[in-house]
Amino acid sequence: MVGLGPKPPPSRKGTGTLADAPKDLLKEIKHLEELFTIDTAKLKEITHHFVNELTKGLSVKGGSIPMNPTWVMSQPTGYETGSYLALDMGGTNLRVCQVTLTEQKSEFDIIQSKYRMPEELKTGDADELWEYIADCLLQFIETHHGDVTKLDKIPLGFTFSYPATQNYVDEGILQRWTKGFDIAGVEGHNVVPMFEAALAQRGVPIKLTALINDTTGTLIASAYTDPKMKIGCIFGTGCNAAYIEDCGSIPKLAHLNLPPETPMAINCEWGAFDNEGKVLPRTPYDVAIDKDSPRPGQQSFEKMIAGLYLGEIFRLIMVDLHDKHDVHIFAGQDIAKLRKPYSLDSSFLSSIEEDPFENLSETLDLFQNKLNISPNLPELELIRRTAELIGTRAARLSACGVSAISIKKGYTTSCHVGADGSVFNKYPHFKARGAVALREILDWPEKTDPKEEDPIEILTAEDGSGVGAALIAALTLQRVKAGNMHGILHPENFT
Ligand code: BGC
Repeated sequence: MVGLGPKPPPSRKGTGTLADAPKDLLKEIKHLEELFTIDTAKLKEITHHFVNELTKGLSVKGGSIPMNPTWVMSQPTGYETGSYLALDMGGTNLRVCQVTLTEQKSEFDIIQSKYRMPEELKTGDADELWEYIADCLLQFIETHHGDVTKLDKIPLGFTFSYPATQNYVDEGILQRWTKGFDIAGVEGHNVVPMFEAALAQRGVPIKLTALINDTTGTLIASAYTDPKMKIGCIFGTGCNAAYIEDCGSIPKLAHLNLPPETPMAINCEWGAFDNEGKVLPRTPYDVAIDKDSPRPGQQSFEKMIAGLYLGEIFRLIMVDLHDKHDVHIFAGQDIAKLRKPYSLDSSFLSSIEEDPFENLSETLDLFQNKLNISPNLPELELIRRTAELIGTRAARLSACGVSAISIKKGYTTSCHVGADGSVFNKYPHFKARGAVALREILDWPEKTDPKEEDPIEILTAEDGSGVGAALIAALTLQRVKAGNMHGILHPENFT
């Protein structure tokens, strides 16, 4: 049996002794509560707008949510088989996997290697990026398959988790970088030939059978083991969702004359929701993050939810309350470390929210060790409340996206949503807060039996960028064999 280790202590629920905080500090806390709390009426308003924007994204004219067709045109049955390579270029790590879909229904074996994505690559040179990726793949194949000169080309599913236009499943024209990436010469171009050129230079024996988004992978991998899965979501460094649309509801594909009931997975790229600033209650801190990001005006929704930004929102609030306000938190202390942009990631906020002690001693340790700051007790209470507000807002907003897709598709009962990503898996209370918000938005009655499922359940997904990518490679090969050549650019890679 696997050792589970000691049970983590329960985290302290709610804000403690706020009443003891000095008046000015209380005023600031109240102000933050006003800025960051999203009530039910606002959640519903956001969701309503979201549904319209999803539809707009599918139209010929388009909207701010890209709603990218992916050419993933079927759901798995659980009986897919074969061995595939999967490459995942995420926001933080690069992962190479060998996935074997076994003869047994819904079963798979996986071997994988993880490589840290060097920070400097994210804003560096395109060639260096592709070379790094090709080197990692080469290393993996040499380790697990031996001499590359003796190998036939191995089919690969490439998880490229950025908004990409796909006229074909084996193409991805980068619309824009997200998640802090900023590499010149890639936006507006098909990334597949760039990737393949780096592979060819090193003699890496790969044939790319599908370029996929992590959300589509998550959806398909989850549907492999649970047929109720209808939506795939990522709440990690970035945030996004995918679901299956029917081609008849995608006016921008009308020119292809596909039968209206043909299924098509849509990578929503909902991070771009409300880029025009119509409904989201953005705070001055959200505005500041956007302004100083490599792509101002883009990914408005994502910048309020995703792991990359949660710590930064918190940091900006702390610096602001130190510098400008009457309260002057951390008075007389050197906050040089806190001034460094993006120095706090979402795990910092997780640790604050997980502090089980009434006197928030773990939060104090965290501030002392990481930032060289010693907050007093009222300041610790403010810190705790701020983290709760940011984490709660993120979870509640994410429920608007899930509700919007469910409303659009009429998923009112027995709908499972597969979710993955560091925020979903590790941020305390994210799931429970999201579930509460779904209930508010969709007006579900209180449960009579606590064990009963909600009509829409957001559940931990299967590994989308590994198993999902392999499945999509398998499904694509399968449909090509069956003569469905829609959305295939390089049929020669499917023989
Ligand atoms: C990207 C999406 C991706 C999401 C989660 C966003 O920044 O644009 O393509 O699915 O992050 O990784």
